[in-house]
Amino acid sequence: MSNEAHGSVTMTLDESNKSLSLPLRLGTIGPSVADISKIYGTLGVFTYDPGYGMTASCESKITYIDGDAGILLHRGYPIDQLAEHSSFLEVAYLLLNGELPTAKERHDFEYGVMRHTMLHEQLRRFFDGFRRDAHPMAVLCGVVGALSAFYHDSLDINDPEHRRISAFRLIAKLPTIAAWAYKYTIGQPFMYPRNDLGYAENFLYMMNAVPAEPYKVSPVLARAMDRIFILHADHEQNASTSTVRLAGSTGANPFACIAAGIASLWGPAHGGANEAVLKMLADIGHKDNIPDFIEKVKDKDSHVRLMGFGHRVYKNYDPRAKIMERTCHEVLAELGIKDDPLLDMAMELERIARHDEYFISKKLYPNVDFYSGIILKAMGFPTSMFTVLFAVARTVGWISQWKEMIEDPSQRIGRPRQVYTGSPQRDFTPLDARS
Ligand code: SDX
Repeated sequence: MSNEAHGSVTMTLDESNKSLSLPLRLGTIGPSVADISKIYGTLGVFTYDPGYGMTASCESKITYIDGDAGILLHRGYPIDQLAEHSSFLEVAYLLLNGELPTAKERHDFEYGVMRHTMLHEQLRRFFDGFRRDAHPMAVLCGVVGALSAFYHDSLDINDPEHRRISAFRLIAKLPTIAAWAYKYTIGQPFMYPRNDLGYAENFLYMMNAVPAEPYKVSPVLARAMDRIFILHADHEQNASTSTVRLAGSTGANPFACIAAGIASLWGPAHGGANEAVLKMLADIGHKDNIPDFIEKVKDKDSHVRLMGFGHRVYKNYDPRAKIMERTCHEVLAELGIKDDPLLDMAMELERIARHDEYFISKKLYPNVDFYSGIILKAMGFPTSMFTVLFAVARTVGWISQWKEMIEDPSQRIGRPRQVYTGSPQRDFTPLDARS
C-alpha cells in the first residue's frame, strides 16, 4: 500500500468543532481505507466496529474477495482457475511466495513438504492422553500446540530460515496429525505417511489404510480431496486468520499461533459450519419438512440459522460453493451413489431459499460449507472430521498470513481499544458493609 494519501475523509467533532483530515490509502483493487491512527490524539475519540466488519486490520497481498461480485483471488488468480488447473501444494507455494512456481521450484517445494510428514515418535504418546471419544479438533489443537515443544531449532520468528522450516513442518504434519486423530478415535493403528504419494493421496491413505492389507487411493477421490483443500486454503482476514495474526503479533511461535487458529476455526459460525450443515439436514429429516424448517429460520425467536448459508463478506454466491457443488456430483458419481438423500435435500433447500424473499433481502447464499459436508460424508469421513479437514487446508493460509505479518515492518502487537460502559470509579466496600 502506498504511504502517500490519495485524498482524504474529514471528520469533525460537533462538540468542539475540531476537524481531522483522515488520509485515504489506496489498495490495488477494492475499497480504499481511511487511516484513523491519529484520531484519538487529535479528536480524543476511538472508532467503534464490533466484529471488525468494516475495519482493515492489516495490509495484505495474499487474498482478495469481492463480496458483491462473488470473486475470490489468491495472489490475483481466480479460485475457479486454481481449482481447475492447479494443485494444493502449488497453491500453497503461491500463497507463501507470491508467484506460481517454476517446474523446479514446484518439485523442490513438494519434495520439501513430503519429507516433513512424519511426527517425532514421542508425539505418538500424546494421543494416548485423550479419551477415545475426544473430538478430533481437540486432539488437533493439543498436538499442534505441542509441536512447539519438539522444534526448538525453529522458534526464532525473526529468522527467515526458521520461518521457512516451520511452514514446511506445519503444512507437512497437519495431515498426519489429522489422520492419526481419526485413527485414535476408532482404535485403529496409526498409518505412517508415504513419501511416494501425493499430498491429498497420502492423507486419504493415512485415513483409510490399515497395516493388514494394501490400500490404493482412488485417483478421482484424491483429486477431489486436493480440490477441496484448495477451496479452503485462505480467505482474507477471517476470524481464525485474524486469531493467528493477533497471536503472532505478540511474537508467539508459529506452532502456538496455528493452534490458536485451529481453536478459533472450531466454532459453528466459522469452520464448524460444515459439521453443523449435516446435523441440520439430519434434523430436517426429509424434503417435505423443508418449508416448516425455513419458517423456523425466519422466526427470529427460534434462533435457528440456515447453516452453510450467509457470509460476512459474500453478499453474492460464494464462488467456492459453486465449485464444491460440482465436485459433489463428481464424487457421488465416482462412488456410484445415485440418489443421495442428503444432496437431494440440500439442493431442494437451496432452491427454496434462493427464491424466498427473506434470504434474498438479506443476501444469504450458500457458502463454502453448504456442500462440503455432503462430499466428505460420501467419502467416508465422520462429521467430527469435517472441520479438521478445513484446518488442514487453512494451515497453508494461516502460515502464509503469519509470515506476511512478521515480514511487514508496519505491523506491531495487536491491541484493540473499547468503549467502557461499566461502573465509574468507586471505593472498596468492606464485607460487613455489603447488603
Ligand atoms: C466460514 O470469514 C470468512 O471468510 C469465513 C469463511 C472462511 O473461508 O474463512 O468463509 C468460512 O466461516 C463460512 C461461514 C460458515 N458459517 C455458517 O454457515 C453459519 C451460518 N451463517 C451465519 O451464522 C452468518 O451468515 C455468518 C456468521 C456466516 C455471517 O454473519 P454476519 O455477517 O455477522 O451476518 P449477521 O449474523 O449479522 O446476519 C445478518 C442478517 C441477520 O438478520 P438481521 O439481524 O439483519 O434481521 O442475516 C441473518 C441474521 O439473522 N442471517 C441468517 C444467516 N446468516 C445471517 N439468517 C438465517 N440463516 C443464516 N445462515
